[in-house]
Amino acid sequence: MSQLFNGIYDGKKVLVTGHTGFKGSWLCFWLEKMGAQVMGYSLPPPTEPAHFNCLDLHTGSTIGDLRDAILLSKVICAFQPEIVFHLAAQPIVRTSYADPVGTYASNVIGTLHVCEACRACPSVRALVAITTDKVYVNREWWWGYREIDPLGGFDPYSSSKACADILLGSYRDSFFNRAAYGSSHHVLLAVARAGNVIGGGDWAKDRLVPDAARAAGCGQPLVIRNPRATRPWQHVLECLSGYLLLCQKLLEAKSECATAFNFGPPADDVLPVEEVIRHLRIHWPSVTYQVESSGQQPHEARTLTLDCAKARSILGWVPVWTFDRALEQTALWYRSYYEKNNVNTQKDLALYIEDAKKKGAVWAQ
Ligand SMILES: NC(=O)c1ccc[n+]([C@@H]2O[C@H](COP(=O)([O-])OP(=O)(O)OC[C@H]3O[C@@H](n4cnc5c(N)ncnc54)[C@H](O)[C@@H]3O)[C@@H](O)[C@H]2O)c1
Repeated sequence: MSQLFNGIYDGKKVLVTGHTGFKGSWLCFWLEKMGAQVMGYSLPPPTEPAHFNCLDLHTGSTIGDLRDAILLSKVICAFQPEIVFHLAAQPIVRTSYADPVGTYASNVIGTLHVCEACRACPSVRALVAITTDKVYVNREWWWGYREIDPLGGFDPYSSSKACADILLGSYRDSFFNRAAYGSSHHVLLAVARAGNVIGGGDWAKDRLVPDAARAAGCGQPLVIRNPRATRPWQHVLECLSGYLLLCQKLLEAKSECATAFNFGPPADDVLPVEEVIRHLRIHWPSVTYQVESSGQQPHEARTLTLDCAKARSILGWVPVWTFDRALEQTALWYRSYYEKNNVNTQKDLALYIEDAKKKGAVWAQ
């Protein structure tokens, strides 16, 4: 696996914030398989069970808070990474309504601390920060948002990630300016914006597929609140391949890539939540659901799609799996976990890479 992404990760020191989380644990797993030396920094796993605890990772791990600037900087300076992937965040919309201050502190001030720590650490060459598709001012229209569209957010989570995204843009312009790259500094900073991610091992609350898996695991029906809300759905490995490809370009000194990129599924894979659950049932009949008809729900965007032409044109990134395939692998991951106590992460990664090779994905050659 070490030859993927032009072999750039083999032997590299990579710091991942949010390594105990869903995406972070998948990312650490993949990086390790490619020969990277990985160090994680984050709070303890946010859920029980947790994908991070299901894996036999060799990743170094510091349990620490992004809000603790001193500890974060100490860990980064001691490890001397060349690459920093910043994923740690409070990522749940509903939690952000319950704890807006904690959400802004982790997502905005935490990101600021990561940027400052990278600025103080001379080994860092590439910083890839993960925001979300929810950073765009949501107009409830059907066209995909482009990287040049205005940023904003209704709920505190979306707003905090939009703030973080703006902050990252300021650090790129002020301290890691592309025109000064190679003379006054050696850091390229990029932002990755991806949509709703599915895949085995997510147990976060208030996310559709994890809620469905948890309910099915204990023989309960899932209650869905916005059956017609649409989201771009993609497998976690799709957005991770985008993050890894983007970072590869930064390490190859392609300063034109030090901007923001959307990583989303094809337009056909933007489906209403009820449809997603129906598809999930095909691969895991234990999944049942009912629509919640009453009660005041906090505001959440109903329609959201991403335009990924920039990632396709500049990076050559394209999705590998169809929505059906992504959902099938996800359903099988959970089924296997609940019914046989197996963890299919290695299997899913191997299948994904095999399919990427067949499809001619630029990073898999
Ligand atoms: N999963 C999705 O569908 C999705 C969609 C779009 C964007 N994202 C973004 O991807 C990133 C990862 O999300 P995820 O789904 O893996 O979430 P997750 O909840 O599974 O993981 C979040 C990680 O951040 C850590 N963390 C939270 N607050 C922290 C703090 N104050 N200090 C240190 N660590 C802290 C947690 O311990 C955990 O490791 C986030 O930035 C999120 O906004 C996720």
